[in-house]
Formats: sequence, structure tokens, C-alpha cells
Amino acid sequence: MTWFDAPLLAIETSCDETSCAVLQETKVLSNVVSSQAELHRKWGGVVPEAAARAHVEAILPAMIEAIDQAGLTKEAIRAVAVTSRPGLVGALSVGVTAAKAFAFAKKLPFIGINHLEGHLLSVFLEDVPSFPHLTLMVSGGHSELVWVEGFGRYEVIGQTIDDAAGEAFDKSARVLGLGYPGGAAIQTAAESGQPGKYRLPVASVKGPFDLSFSGLKTAVLRLSETEADLDVPSAALAVQSAIVEALKGAVSRALEDRHAKALCLVGGVAANLALRQALSGLASQLGLPFFVPTPVYCTDNAAMIGLAGSWRLALGERSDWGLDAESQSEW
Ligand code: KG4
Ligand code: ZN
Repeated sequence: MTWFDAPLLAIETSCDETSCAVLQETKVLSNVVSSQAELHRKWGGVVPEAAARAHVEAILPAMIEAIDQAGLTKEAIRAVAVTSRPGLVGALSVGVTAAKAFAFAKKLPFIGINHLEGHLLSVFLEDVPSFPHLTLMVSGGHSELVWVEGFGRYEVIGQTIDDAAGEAFDKSARVLGLGYPGGAAIQTAAESGQPGKYRLPVASVKGPFDLSFSGLKTAVLRLSETEADLDVPSAALAVQSAIVEALKGAVSRALEDRHAKALCLVGGVAANLALRQALSGLASQLGLPFFVPTPVYCTDNAAMIGLAGSWRLALGERSDWGLDAESQSEW
């Protein structure tokens, strides 16, 4: 595998984290993440217009800090990688514009990266899983089972037919009054929950590797309306268990169907301890190596965008000045 062998600056602004990183090949020299969670908390979710504005304020300080923390000067940066799709267009545009401006001023090559490819390759920041492997990618906007044959060779073999796993965490947290961002809040509340006190259903779907989480929110809503004295930690534990069981079931069926050399778990929801433990247990039962990034590389970060950029730039791929933010994108 060849990597871009000079320092590159990576930028990620697809949702509510402004993140900048400096990488040399696959080595992360710095990874600065400025979260907007506090800003969006009062609305109970990400407000796209507010997110874009906050990125505008945070992007330059984050770029400067990332270069500083890497122990470099702007002059040492030799390329720029930026998330250009999919995500909130206003938010993405801030990163894309900053990347273009930096590349234009310094006459550097730059490349737009698919956010999902960033998550998918995030395991390579710390490990080198063998191919082919199965990756469960679970974030706020996506829940997919991806068969990874190699870099750039991805096949989505299963996905959610409605809500993403992270969305299920976030919506359930809102119903339970646990606030935003919901996933981490549910995990914390669940720690003091009583196992088995409540049971929540997760619908099974036609495709053996597909998922559906929209019914879960309705079930949580019904539970909160019918239980006069709702035990919130136990309800949080029931939500977490239902989501983890559904994900583990789909992964297990996919691993029966295909001979993977490893199992990987990526995306914001991969920060969830119960999910990490469940998939790690499944992999060890099957004698498979299991890889999951440290939590800071699970949630949105520029380091993973830098890694995807490092690989694509080394292949000679470049974006041109016409690069634009796109809200939707296939692989
Ligand atoms: O990958 P990510 O940072 O952003 C997207 O690309 O969507 O994922 C964000 C999602 C949110 O839904 C958040 O609630 C969830 O990841 N999340 C968690 C945890 N930390 C973040 N879900 C469950 N447990 C966690 N500890
Ligand atoms: Zn993400």
C-alpha cells in the first residue's frame, strides 16, 4: 500500500464537529475536534443553519491549531483532503471552501473525500485488518454492512430500511428526556439500569442483513406514555440492548454467509461500549480478529478523512476547483 508521503491537512465539517488533522502517510500528527454539541443541545438536535455558521467561526482556528499541534508550519503542508459528501450542504461547504482556499494560496493538490469512506477506513489509523473483511458502519445518518475487498472496493450487503442506528439512539434519548447528543447519554444512563426490566422490540426485515429501527422510537414513546413511573435508566438500557441485539444479529448472519478474515466496527455508534463488547464477543466465538477504532476516531474526525486522502492522493487522484459539497452520495 502506498501513501502520500508528505504532511497533509485534512478537514471535516459534514455535520456538527469542526475537525482538522495533519497526517504523514497513515500517522496522525494532530487531530483537533471542535464540537458544537453545546450549541445544538438547546434545540435537541443539529440545526443546519446554526451548524454552518459555527463551522465558519471554528474552521480557521482549528486549521491553525492542527498545524501547530503537529509541530509544523503552513509551509510544510503538501496537500489537502476534505470531506465533500454526504452531509449538510451548508456545513460541508465551509470545509470545502477552506480547503480550496488553502490549496489555492499554497498551490497544493487537494481532494474531496466521501465521509463514509473516511469512517470505513478509520480502522487503518491504528491497525491493519486483512482483506476481505466485514465492516459494520453505524453513525447518525448511516447503518450499513459493508463487504470490504480492498481499498476502494466496497459492497454494501445490508443496510437500514429506515432510521440509522445513531438516529435510533438520538430519537429514543429525546423521548426519554436525556437530551442531545443521545447515544452517549443513553450509554451513561444505561449503566445504572436494571437488565430485563423493560423489553423493546426491533422489527425483523426481509433482507437477512438489513435493519429497521423506526419501530423502536414508537415503542419507546409508548413505553414512556404507559409507564406512570418510568425508570429512565432501565428504559435506556432496554433501548441500547435492542439496538445492539439487532446489529449483532445482522452481523452474525452476514458472517455465516461470507468468509471474512476480520470483523470491523466503525462510525459514531461504534463508540458504544455495549456494542463494542457484543461484537468483540461474537468475533472471538468465531475465531475472527476484531477491529474498532478508539472512540475519538469513531465519531466524526478529520484524521479518517486524511487517511482516505493519503491513499487517494498517492494514487494520483486530484479534485479540481469545481469540487462542490453534495448532500447525498453513493460510494
Ligand atoms: O459518525 P458520527 O459522529 O456522525 C455521523 O456521521 O452521523 O455519529 C454520530 C452518532 C450520533 O447518532 C450519536 O448519538 C452516536 O453516533 N453516538 C453514540 C455514542 N457516541 C456517539 N451512540 C451510542 N453510544 C455512544 N457512546
Ligand atoms: Zn460520521
